[in-house]
Amino acid sequence: MAAYYAQRATAGLIVTEGVQPSLVGQSNPGTPGLYTDEQVASWRPVTDAVHANGGRVFAQIMHGGRVSHPDTTGMRPVGPSAVPAPGEVFTPSGPRPAPVPRALETAEVPEHARSYAQAALRAVDAGFDGVELHGANGYLIAQFLSSTANLRTDAYGGSIAGRIRFAVEAVSATAEAVGGDRTGIRLSPGAGFWGAEDGDVPELYGALLAELAPWTWRTSTSRPPPTRTCSSNCARPGPARSSSTRSSRWAPGGRTRRRPITGWGSAPT
Ligand SMILES: Cc1cc2nc3c(=O)[nH]c(=O)nc-3n(C[C@H](O)[C@H](O)[C@H](O)COP(=O)(O)O)c2cc1C
Repeated sequence: MAAYYAQRATAGLIVTEGVQPSLVGQSNPGTPGLYTDEQVASWRPVTDAVHANGGRVFAQIMHGGRVSHPDTTGMRPVGPSAVPAPGEVFTPSGPRPAPVPRALETAEVPEHARSYAQAALRAVDAGFDGVELHGANGYLIAQFLSSTANLRTDAYGGSIAGRIRFAVEAVSATAEAVGGDRTGIRLSPGAGFWGAEDGDVPELYGALLAELAPWTWRTSTSRPPPTRTCSSNCARPGPARSSSTRSSRWAPGGRTRRRPITGWGSAPT
């Protein structure tokens, strides 16, 4: 795995395969996670290898929601509503009909949004330069955005404001945890993958992007603002200059390290 990613370091910024933030969030068999100390440790050789080759790497945090199966996780999948994805999902024994997910209780929804932030903290601890939330392709965030997968009548469904709420909570919790400069989201407006259709794409995604915009430059509350050590053009778009470093003194679990961070994407502090 480390060799695979290191070979691609010259791409500049790598976004990994989808990584589940919890066991119930696992979609496909055999995919990696970021919810245990062991998983964090197993990612460190990967991030070290990418950095050694001059690259940068974000972990893609992917909660599969209803696109999952008990044969894969040992758990009943969860989703915004008890509506199965059409067709079959992947399991260790091959494709199986998508199960009916358990609709999350209103009180349970925030913990699933926070699971992205918790995985992001572990990702930074594992040496990742940031995270991308998988908000595309019919997985949990896209299920909440969808008017066919999300039939909720509470604050997380119905209106556009309701359907974007989960995505906004997931992104804002993550930006709070690791900084807006380390947080991205992948979206697929109108794609309808896994039956998660959105019928009102311009309005829905316009509203979502307006809500997410303020988080772009949000500095983490759990790590101090970075210390700039470069003299002139730190914020210039483009690849990192070797002389441009900032110290990352924040480290979960008390670990302290110093490592170079790319210049582009750096937040004003
Ligand atoms: C086997 C397989 C696994 C994929 N895994 C991911 C993934 O983990 N995260 C993601 O964002 N997209 C994933 N994708 C979607 C691809 O990133 C891409 O959007 C899709 O293949 C369409 O790209 P294309 O139009 O260039 O073919 C996967 C696609 C395939 C076929």
